[in-house]
Amino acid sequence: MNKKTILVTGGAGYIGSHACVELLQTGFNVVVVDNFSNSKPESLRRVHAITGLSPTLYQADIRDKQALSDLFANETIDAVIHFAGLKAVGESCQQPLTYYNNNVYGTLVLLEAMEAANVKQLIFSSSATVYGEATCQQYAEDLSLGAINPYGRSKQMIEDILRDVSAADKINHASFMRTNDLLPHRQLRKWKIVLLRYFNPIGAHESGMIGEDPNGIPNNLLPYILQVASGKLAQLSVWGDDYPTRDGTGIRDYIHVVDLVKGHIKALAALDGEQFATGNCKAYNLGAGMGYSVLDIINTFEKVTGRAINYKIAPRRAGDLAEYFANPALALAELNWHTEKNLDDMLIDAWRWQSNNPEGYE
Ligand code: NAD
Ligand code: UFG
Repeated sequence: MNKKTILVTGGAGYIGSHACVELLQTGFNVVVVDNFSNSKPESLRRVHAITGLSPTLYQADIRDKQALSDLFANETIDAVIHFAGLKAVGESCQQPLTYYNNNVYGTLVLLEAMEAANVKQLIFSSSATVYGEATCQQYAEDLSLGAINPYGRSKQMIEDILRDVSAADKINHASFMRTNDLLPHRQLRKWKIVLLRYFNPIGAHESGMIGEDPNGIPNNLLPYILQVASGKLAQLSVWGDDYPTRDGTGIRDYIHVVDLVKGHIKALAALDGEQFATGNCKAYNLGAGMGYSVLDIINTFEKVTGRAINYKIAPRRAGDLAEYFANPALALAELNWHTEKNLDDMLIDAWRWQSNNPEGYE
């Protein structure tokens, strides 16, 4: 049987580069499109160093219609994993148009190119942030959505667009069956779409060769801790110790990036299964199903690395929730996926990446 070819948008980024490794090692051909707006070509050279295999690279913006049309004309793509997007919550509040343009418009251009090429299998990087200020702490997929910032709303809008695209398939297919005059020379495919709602991805590949390489001063907890541990930053601020949680600090569901990308491989397999046989668009949480507090992360990091973290308690950060974590039961039942790595693994692997690459990919 021929190897399947997967187009990975944003494949040079943090999660995308780990996905490339996993896809290549699982036996897929990989094509990457990335404009390197938040990554460097070096990450893909590292993918080659780990796997001995190289993705085919298209350096392009997904909003470039001609570039995407050329890509789909040159390559026989079976499915797309769509990571390309901007992801900083604070920046999205300052530059909402940039975020909607890149994330929402970029996805529209991609979808049009896919439709024109009759490529209709898609795995989309959504986020737990689409749940907004839910009234419970453990989020299941059927909770109502209500993102509270432009980044989150861009993800929620894309989810809505993808649900609409999938629903339209049923109408169009019925009309095709009646008139049989659409796409006369090829099979009319139905959209098969998986929305993966990530909780908090951290960690790095166990080789220590690829990992998260934030621009400037990190906003997220683990990249900040890594830079304090390595001496690049002086002190971590713990944003609030007066939340109604077990130790007063914020609780999140942290997931090892390698477990996360394995969820994408499982999702690709599910597209060939019964759930998606007649086309579908379904959301799945990718999380561990349990939360750790900021102090848990600091204490465990100190234990597994032997490095002390200089921190102070600071006021709460605007927009932060006290506590949430995934209900990952649906991903287990329908994708046969669950996390395999624990917090020690996440922190040891992240520290290996940081120690081996104190300046990231520079
Ligand atoms: P990242 O910034 O490391 O990777 C995104 C990649 O997409 C980068 O290589 C960037 O250069 C590329 N890109 C951005 N806009 C592009 C465009 N218009 N055309 C072509 N390439 C473009 O981010 P990541 O952490 O790997 O996240 C991947 C996806 O997962 C994003 O969509 C993000 O919103 C989503 N996500 C991430 C997290 C997280 O905590 N990392 C959590 C939930 C969801
Ligand atoms: N935190 C600190 N100090 C810091 C950074 C973070 O105390 O310097 C705390 C936060 O207050 C929060 C926890 O660490 O309690 C995690 O914060 P992150 O910034 O690492 O992650 P968030 O949960 O705020 O958001 C992340 C991504 C979002 C994504 C969301 C999905 O940044 O893009 O997870 O749940 F949508």
